[in-house]
Amino acid sequence: MEKHKVNKYEIINVMSLKTTNSPKSIKSAAVALRNGYLVAFPTETVYGLGSDATNGSAVARVYAVKGRPSEHPVIVHISSLSRVELWATEIPNYALKLAKSFWPGPMTLVLRRQSLAKNFITGGQNNVALRVPSHPIAIELLLEFEKLGGLGVAAPSANRFGKVSPTTALAVEIELGKYLSDSDQILDGGPSQIGVESTIIDCTQVTPLILRPGGITVEMIEKVLDIKLDNGSTPSKGIKVPGMLASHYSPIAKVFLSGTPSPGDGYIAMAGIPTPEGIIRLASPKDNDDYAHLLYESLRSADRQGLKKVFVVQPDNQGVGTAINDRLIKAANN
Ligand code: TXA
Ligand code: MG
Repeated sequence: MEKHKVNKYEIINVMSLKTTNSPKSIKSAAVALRNGYLVAFPTETVYGLGSDATNGSAVARVYAVKGRPSEHPVIVHISSLSRVELWATEIPNYALKLAKSFWPGPMTLVLRRQSLAKNFITGGQNNVALRVPSHPIAIELLLEFEKLGGLGVAAPSANRFGKVSPTTALAVEIELGKYLSDSDQILDGGPSQIGVESTIIDCTQVTPLILRPGGITVEMIEKVLDIKLDNGSTPSKGIKVPGMLASHYSPIAKVFLSGTPSPGDGYIAMAGIPTPEGIIRLASPKDNDDYAHLLYESLRSADRQGLKKVFVVQPDNQGVGTAINDRLIKAANN
């Protein structure tokens, strides 16, 4: 295990420990969570900033570190479907089918809340968002936390409010390091495999409604449920629609989805598309999955290089393409 002190808090590299059953560093992170501290951890989508979902002051610190307004709800991460009933009162049949098909994985279900899901988790709504992540370190952390009596880990993406989600431990450190305390931790699990946030599905109505597109696509959901989703329907009354602020997922550089770049501007486009003269190529993904995987890190790299403008050739809407385009449109709105 590689373990080193960085600034005031610890970054623990657990990459080499993936194959062992119970890495010591993950245990110590679970203890930190139980004691009310924050643990940033890898998931297959993006890195999350975790806290004990039953501890109001720990969750309040997550909001403070992110600079996020307190009325925003946060996703509760659990280790398996069997723990849903702790947090939700009802799970409709279609939601159960989705959970059995896509958990652990990049999908979040919004369900009617149990009393355990306090207003500081739900943003005052009667619903709670739940996810079982598939990243081995995330699952291990949740299991260790549950062994200590923990019931769920509240974790938004580990970035400052309105900014690009982190897909590496280093990105978390750079963005949030100065807000973390000595006892908080960052678990390093390497780059997030998917690279965009989970699909969020409202399961409080008769039929499912996608609130945020992600790795689990409309086509995948329709196939499993054998239905056609109504994309025109609106969220149930009073539900907060995620990431619906006009501007979100924004780097410091201005993002353009059309127009012509000038020398010195950044450029993101599929591998087959050549780079215009004098333009700084930030990513050349080979397909939509690769695009999702590279997108946030390439936007961060634009900021690291001090670029003012990034021009993006959008992917098509196949598979995760819908989620990429959703994020790009919001990133371009800053
Ligand atoms: O992939 C992901 O979902 C990552 C990883 C860490 O799990 N998490 C994530 O969390 O993206 P966050 O907080 O950055 O985005 C979650 C979105 C927020 O926009 C929030 O408003 C919405 O989900 N949300 C959370 N609870 C909700 C609820 N009960 N009803 C409706 N929307 C909810
Ligand atoms: Mg976020």
